[in-house]
Amino acid sequence: AFNLRNRHFLKELDFTPQEFRFLVDLAAQLKAAKYAGAEQPRLRGKNIALIFEKTSTRTRCAFEVAAHDQGASTTYLDPSGSQIGHKESIKDTARVLGRMFDGIEYRGHGQEIVEELAAHANVPVWNGLTDEWHPTQMLADVLTVQEHSTKPFAETALAYLGDARSNMGNSLLVTGALLGMDIRIVAPRELWPAEDVRKAARALAEDTGARITLTEDVAEGVAGADFLYTDVWVSMGEPKEVWAERIELLKPYQVSMDTVRATGNPAVKFLHCLPAFHDLGTALGRQMFEATGMTELECTDELFESSHSVVFDQAENRLHTIKAVLVATLGA
Ligand code: CP
Ligand code: NVA
Repeated sequence: AFNLRNRHFLKELDFTPQEFRFLVDLAAQLKAAKYAGAEQPRLRGKNIALIFEKTSTRTRCAFEVAAHDQGASTTYLDPSGSQIGHKESIKDTARVLGRMFDGIEYRGHGQEIVEELAAHANVPVWNGLTDEWHPTQMLADVLTVQEHSTKPFAETALAYLGDARSNMGNSLLVTGALLGMDIRIVAPRELWPAEDVRKAARALAEDTGARITLTEDVAEGVAGADFLYTDVWVSMGEPKEVWAERIELLKPYQVSMDTVRATGNPAVKFLHCLPAFHDLGTALGRQMFEATGMTELECTDELFESSHSVVFDQAENRLHTIKAVLVATLGA
């Protein structure tokens, strides 16, 4: 086994393929134990701080339920109700929270903020999403891929369509490279991951044997895929001014039953980190509809609700995988 005690969890590139797989396997064990009613609490007496500068449903709930299942306590810090960032520096916040808590989750904007917290907290810091990376999501996605595929990673093709110059595009490209997968980014060139991320992924692929494809061509990108993956076209923190142009650029990359047919694989599975604009029945969705006239954005409702879709398995796996991170880094 691997000893990840006291390690931070900031981005995928900080882990070896073996360490990453260890976390996924630990999550699978913790999931099985919970289902069997045989979970052993390994975080008794631990206190965990949860800082969210952006909103969340899955990540926050996964941290809270995982901690509770394992016997730990959580404190939720909403920046509007604390001093973080506006009145007190990240460095000072890190040193204060590090004196009180055994570990700190942070969701926010720049990766440099979570790195700064980690540099000064003296306790493990976990990245719950930044503009650049979404590493806890990757563990859940890989567990879901493992559960819904009989093939080894080296033979598994995952195509990500949509805004890839984003936390999800970056994380999926690097994670695919780390695990030696056939990983494809299918997006307009201006929305591909930045050159430094592509370079890091290519360097990893040399060691792992991963196949990396970046293409603007949907038919080429999805042919033979085992998994189709998409995310919102506009991420948290991006201004409304980008909507019209972004949506126009990404229209050809909407994932639908046509995309499923284009894979040539009737067993292809559909993934989405959620939340998803598969119908525009939310307040933000209605604003998107008014701005664009579209009733579905990154994926169609038909596909989302179809038997190809494993998005709720994926959402549940946020719990088991975040629990694995907590247990591995803090557990007795
Ligand atoms: N997928 C994900 O991170 O969801 P939340 O934004 O609800 O945490
Ligand atoms: N790219 C999305 C992911 C949400 C889980 C965002 O950052 O808003």
